[in-house]
Amino acid sequence: MQRLALRWRREHCRIGFVPTMGYLHAGHLSLVQRARRRVGPAGRVVVSIYVNPTQFGPQEDLSRYPRDFKRDQQLCRAAGVDVIFAPGDGEMYPPGAEAGFSTYVTEETLARGMEGAARPTHFRGVTTVVAKLFNLVLPDVAVFGAKDYQQAAVIQRMVRDLNFPVRIDVAPTHREPDGLAMSSRNKYLSAEERGQAVVLAEALRQARAAVKAGPVDSVQLKQQLSRFIAGRPAARLDYIEIFDPETLVPRAQATPGARMALAVFFGKTRLIDNETI
Ligand code: PAJ
Repeated sequence: MQRLALRWRREHCRIGFVPTMGYLHAGHLSLVQRARRRVGPAGRVVVSIYVNPTQFGPQEDLSRYPRDFKRDQQLCRAAGVDVIFAPGDGEMYPPGAEAGFSTYVTEETLARGMEGAARPTHFRGVTTVVAKLFNLVLPDVAVFGAKDYQQAAVIQRMVRDLNFPVRIDVAPTHREPDGLAMSSRNKYLSAEERGQAVVLAEALRQARAAVKAGPVDSVQLKQQLSRFIAGRPAARLDYIEIFDPETLVPRAQATPGARMALAVFFGKTRLIDNETI
């Protein structure tokens, strides 16, 4: 991959990159389209498909994470992707204490709260693998989804702090017709859970409606939304946060322009969503 990317760079060919864990859906494909627009018809678009073990906690869904490489290949071909980069675990993280992998990248401010608090080793895995992928694919522009807002913020910070010569583009969240944010993990939901999963999008909509009338105390708004979510028997709220869209610092007052994020369990399946409110 790196040899190919170096050749493209020598030929002054722009490289657009969409990192993914596969099991692609229309949200991923919207990032591919954006990457294509950014590099133009003469550029190259690379999609990586790699279920990165270092970003999963020991009790998480690494082993059952959905995979369908054949289908992903077809979707990528139809979307005009030039190269799929799908490395193996042995290449990305060679084992062994002596010759094996032992360097990690950590962002230490934006990665602390929300997903970082709920999943303590998650962002260390994300920043490490994305740093590796950037060094392998050598992109001019990499596209991330606002669906994982904190992830996009952490990556932007890593790129700035470590001087990666890459532009980060953040694409809006692609949703199902009822508002549920598209996610590879939606596949885990039973029919009943799928019906109730729209509660994340509904809570975001409620929050937006609430702040329209004027600033609202965040604690009160979060309580109101927790009660609303508790009304869905299959849903178990993990967290709701209302925060500054740049610094990700929680805000005492919810006002228009603030960002709200939430995580909700349906059985073992954990869904996240966020929007500007
Ligand atoms: P994955 O969950 O496969 O997502 C890959 C990219 O697609 C991420 O940038 C994510 O934010 C974006 N995405 C997912 N669902 C989306 C939706 N409904 N609308 C728009 N974009 C969406 O995020 C990861 O993989 C991994 O952490 C990764 C960055 C690849 C590192 O392993």
